[in-house]
Amino acid sequence: MRLFVANWKMHKTRGQARAFARDLAAQIGDRPPSVELVIAPPLTALEAVRDPEGRWSLAAQNVAAEAAGALTGEVSARMLADAGCRYVIVGHSERRRLFGEDGPLLARKLARARDENLTPIYCLGESEEERSRGLTAQVFERQAQTLAQDPASAPLVVAYEPVWAIGTGQAAAPEDAAAARARLRKLLANRQSLRLLYGGSVTPENAGKLLEASGMDGFLVGGASLEPSSFARIAGLA
Ligand code: PGA
Repeated sequence: MRLFVANWKMHKTRGQARAFARDLAAQIGDRPPSVELVIAPPLTALEAVRDPEGRWSLAAQNVAAEAAGALTGEVSARMLADAGCRYVIVGHSERRRLFGEDGPLLARKLARARDENLTPIYCLGESEEERSRGLTAQVFERQAQTLAQDPASAPLVVAYEPVWAIGTGQAAAPEDAAAARARLRKLLANRQSLRLLYGGSVTPENAGKLLEASGMDGFLVGGASLEPSSFARIAGLA
């Protein structure tokens, strides 16, 4: 089943999240699920966006690298699982770039997620500069190395998110996403249950062609996931 993840980043109050949930439910209607939907709201809106009917599941956007302790401001994997999360985003480029998260730290976050049976949505991708210097393959290898200790039998989602495509309106060309997919399938050939997503300026307008031509299993969507109708269209539900 294809997988569509809404990454809300630091957007929406609880009231706005409730309104989104209501509208998305109306878009989906009673039809049997044909795709898997996941919403990653800010932690304060997890409860507000939860669907009692289970038409979508919840993800966190981040997780602490430690299980518990005197770590003001952090939220543990156990707390996320207890709050109803099934997935957690790890290694988003904004966390890497703006909050200095590196490979060793992200490996610990992956381990904490596994402790609580949260499925990681592990993000990777090259920057504009790395791309222009022809370093994309090395970046993939380095960032995939972070998964070395993550159990190969556990289900994993990896999102290819080129940094230059995030929030820029300039999505990767379908051929580039297809090439990234092939590269990741090869690098992660040991994984028993792997789904690959593309993320970066996905819109209802470019989603169909991108999905078809890239062979990806779905999308991680930022800006265009903030509107229920736009997210539903990207997922092919409206
Ligand atoms: P965008 O963000 O869809 O707004 O480009 C994607 C992401 O950062 O996950």
